Amino acid sequence: MTSDLSHIVDSFFKWIYSLTSLVVIGFLFILLSDPSSAEPSVPLSQDNSKETLLLVWVHPFHQHIKIADCWEKFAISGCKVTDNRSFYSQADAVIFHHRDVTSGVGALTREPRPPGQKWIWFNYESPTHAPGLWKYEGIYNLTLSYREDSDVSVPYGFLIPVAHLDKFPLGRFAYPLGGGTPASDLRRPHLVAWVVSNWREHHMRVAYYKVLKDHIQIDLFGKAGQWLPPGGDSVVDMLKQYQFYLAFENSQHTDYITEKLWNAVQGGAIPVVLGPSRKNYERFLPPEAFIHIDDFPTVQDLAQYLLKVRDSPSLIEKHLSWRKNYSVFRPKWGSDHYCIACLAAKRNKGKIDVVKNLNEWFFS
Ligand SMILES: *[C@@H]1O[C@H](CO)[C@@H](O)[C@H](O)[C@H]1NC(C)=O
Ligand SMILES: *[C@@H]1O[C@H](CO)[C@@H](O)[C@H](O)[C@H]1NC(C)=O
Ligand SMILES: *[C@@H]1O[C@H](CO)[C@@H](O)[C@H](O)[C@H]1NC(C)=O
Repeated sequence: MTSDLSHIVDSFFKWIYSLTSLVVIGFLFILLSDPSSAEPSVPLSQDNSKETLLLVWVHPFHQHIKIADCWEKFAISGCKVTDNRSFYSQADAVIFHHRDVTSGVGALTREPRPPGQKWIWFNYESPTHAPGLWKYEGIYNLTLSYREDSDVSVPYGFLIPVAHLDKFPLGRFAYPLGGGTPASDLRRPHLVAWVVSNWREHHMRVAYYKVLKDHIQIDLFGKAGQWLPPGGDSVVDMLKQYQFYLAFENSQHTDYITEKLWNAVQGGAIPVVLGPSRKNYERFLPPEAFIHIDDFPTVQDLAQYLLKVRDSPSLIEKHLSWRKNYSVFRPKWGSDHYCIACLAAKRNKGKIDVVKNLNEWFFS
């Protein structure tokens, strides 16, 4: 990662790191370091020559997403997003969602790429579920994913220390994690929940669950269990009744920590995680904010620990008291990513970037 953008991100990363000792990553840095974002808005019509145009080739999974006004939402100036393909030749950047490229719904255009136009690879699936990457070596100019070392990194969620909330343009969109909740309120009526819609026998999480459920009561939701109304909010509401949530990823890869974790965090259930290493999670969360399956030699040991926590106010507090110092920011799927992608295209205008080794990098 040698792009200018990542240098900017790096320097802000270090700054934040010194403030929080947590990696609060993603577009916070990009936004904080946008020199123009502090300036008053210049009506775009007065300065069309400088406006950066991002074309959304197909909305992810071919599901329409309402395009945000990047100035109103993030104070990103001079960025416009469109999904009208007739602007292809004028677009400074085109964003292609990997799954739709490979399925053919949003296949890459065969039209020549106008000089200076950036093609942005956009993907939020794990490497296990991102087929055919090897076909796209040397095609894209920038990567946009949940990975911290993407050219444009936007994780599924991240924490913002309350003490620094006012310094972040995004602070007003962050969800406070229960300031001042007394320890006595940290106990929940129900024990362990798991929501799973994609049940596959070969997934490690299914094998783990099958053993764990013999040692502790687990309430199962989703296609394989009790019905829940669709949408992330219903999961968060349900989790407000639970002490623990199994935030089990479908596959284990670097930085692949999805909305499952952030649903638990937002709902105030202690996440029990199966995914990348503990060290990897600690880049996103304080060490006591989650329980990692690798912390225990056996599944039974994990179950015993959860039961112990349930009966110990001090352990509950240990795992939840960090919350009062943080808010969580969860990017709005698609529309927030488009604005950040547009900003990245604006930043990298006039530069040549080529994504080589897409496959090797994403699997690393
Ligand atoms: C796309 O833009 C063209 C040119 O401005 C316009 O004629 C057309 O109606 C637009 N299409 C849609 C679907 O908005
Ligand atoms: C939260 O912040 C306060 C003041 O900034 C600090 O004294 C306290 O130790 C922090 N608590 C936790 C659990 O990090
Ligand atoms: C974008 O990538 C293509 C393919 O590797 C390359 O030919 C082109 O120079 C790159 N353009 C920019 C603006 O980075």
